[in-house]
Amino acid sequence: MQLPSPVRPPPTCRFLHWPEAFRTPPIVPVAIYILTHKDGPRAETCSNYSFPSNQVFDSCMDLPVLQASLHWNYSQLTTKVQIAYRAIQIPRGWIAWALNPTGRGMIGSQALLAFRHSNGSMIAYSTSIASYNPSMLPSELSIPVSDISAEYVDKQMIVFGVLGPLGNQTSFNHVWQGGSTVSDNIPQVHPLSGQNVESLGLVNFLSS
Ligand SMILES: *[C@@H]1O[C@H](CO)[C@@H](O)[C@H](O)[C@H]1NC(C)=O
Ligand SMILES: *[C@@H]1O[C@H](CO)[C@@H](O)[C@H](O)[C@H]1NC(C)=O
Ligand SMILES: *[C@@H]1O[C@H](CO)[C@@H](O)[C@H](O)[C@H]1NC(C)=O
Ligand SMILES: *[C@@H]1O[C@H](CO)[C@@H](O)[C@H](O)[C@H]1NC(C)=O
Repeated sequence: MQLPSPVRPPPTCRFLHWPEAFRTPPIVPVAIYILTHKDGPRAETCSNYSFPSNQVFDSCMDLPVLQASLHWNYSQLTTKVQIAYRAIQIPRGWIAWALNPTGRGMIGSQALLAFRHSNGSMIAYSTSIASYNPSMLPSELSIPVSDISAEYVDKQMIVFGVLGPLGNQTSFNHVWQGGSTVSDNIPQVHPLSGQNVESLGLVNFLSS
């Protein structure tokens, strides 16, 4: 990168005798730090996370944004996948994770959603996202789903569920999301910029 040549400092400048390397604008190391530490430092990777009820999953991946991880067991016999999605979240917030069998991103997502009900219990259910203004109420998915539950432990919200049979498809677009507000037991809109619009990708249930 060609930087404009710096204005020669006056002789009294205290930086005058610093080595050339110190003249690198501080923005460069800051930018590198931000790019490599998008979520801030992580104490753990997904593979050594211990679930509160001692569930063990064969596969996992740390997701690149929203301080989230996906854990799963995939059975080639049943073609069902047992999922745990977890993310750092405030107690009054919500989390969601979805497969999108028909596209990329939010529209078409077949989601598992979790939040703390106003009665104090963690609740979780499935909801199919058909528009950019979804109801977020329970609804059936295009993929069979069962055994949905949620927990909140150590600042992490976790949603569990079983999806499938998935047939011969093992690689999917997936989307994950979170927001800080639930009103009248309905999760409210998530931030519309930053990490909340980067939270999509591919998951291959045959990978580790
Ligand atoms: C988890 O694994 C990572 C990398 O392998 C390691 O740095 C970290 O100390 C481990 N944490 C725990 C709690 O074992
Ligand atoms: C995932 O599968 C492994 C065996 O491959 C099993 O030990 C483990 O209990 C399963 N996890 C859950 C949450 O059922
Ligand atoms: C809270 O409400 C949910 C949803 O109606 C219900 O499933 C759950 O059992 C309730 N928990 C308590 C402690 O009342
Ligand atoms: C997957 O299954 C569909 C129908 O169930 C079939 O049309 C397709 O050929 C199969 N694909 C592979 C790679 O086996």
